[in-house]
Amino acid sequence: MDYIHGYSDIEQERLIQQAEYWREKLILKDLDYQAGEKLLEIGCGAGAVLGILGQTFTDFKLAGIDLENKQIDYAKNYLRNLGLSNVDLRVGDAAKLPWQDNYFDHLYAIWFLEHLPHPLQVLQEAKRVLKPGGTITVTETDYRTILVTPESADYRYLIDSLCELLLQARGNPYMGQSLGMLLTQAGFEEANNQPFPVHHAYSLDRQQLRDFVDYVDSWLAPTVEQAATKLGKNLPCLQAGLDWFRGIGDRHDGAISATIYRASAIC
Ligand SMILES: C[S@@+](CC[C@H](N)C(=O)[O-])C[C@H]1O[C@@H](n2cnc3c(N)ncnc32)[C@H](O)[C@@H]1O
Repeated sequence: MDYIHGYSDIEQERLIQQAEYWREKLILKDLDYQAGEKLLEIGCGAGAVLGILGQTFTDFKLAGIDLENKQIDYAKNYLRNLGLSNVDLRVGDAAKLPWQDNYFDHLYAIWFLEHLPHPLQVLQEAKRVLKPGGTITVTETDYRTILVTPESADYRYLIDSLCELLLQARGNPYMGQSLGMLLTQAGFEEANNQPFPVHHAYSLDRQQLRDFVDYVDSWLAPTVEQAATKLGKNLPCLQAGLDWFRGIGDRHDGAISATIYRASAIC
């Protein structure tokens, strides 16, 4: 699999920091889980989100699966250090889950479906392991929506290149908007998909704007080199786009907005 973020130590740390950034705002938003229930995170990466769920919902039976050995090794260590030693962590493909039918009460996925060539197949498999009446919660973004003021052609070139990179890796940079359709096609009931708007402006809260710039920078910067080498994009233009983005946090007229999508449904 041509996974654009890779599996370096820096990337694993980034996933931990990313989950902290979104902990209250997004990861825990609108969750209604009860003690004793079983939850599976598909595409759990380094265990960052499982850590937050385990710290929040005590007496919870957590499980996670990721295609990559290195992520699961990291997750085991990370979760043990948080005092969460009973998490059922497996290496494997979310399209072929190693759990029996009707096993989990809840399914969770975040920043994951956008990387998959066959997200519908994965959601159908998720439905198989969920109990009737169980919930699924999925969160993805739409990279076209990350807008900056003042605008810049180089920045637009960079974001368009990021979208192309995800498409080349057989993912979907616009996944957020398709979540409702995919959940319905997979056979879930009562699907809904709520846009979660993000907006930060220097004039409103300069620290929040800078924090968001730093957050996006942490995953955007490593894609610059890839867009040049894998897609033949113009490296100076990509770098100029990144520099422009980084500078937004220091401009009195600087602002950013983006839309993330949070979808849920019942099995
Ligand atoms: C961006 S990371 C997100 C990890 C985690 N959800 C988080 O927010 O920290 C995406 C993860 O999906 C995993 N992945 C990709 N395709 C997969 C598949 N078919 N089955 C299981 N995991 C997969 C990758 O190995 C990677 O660790």
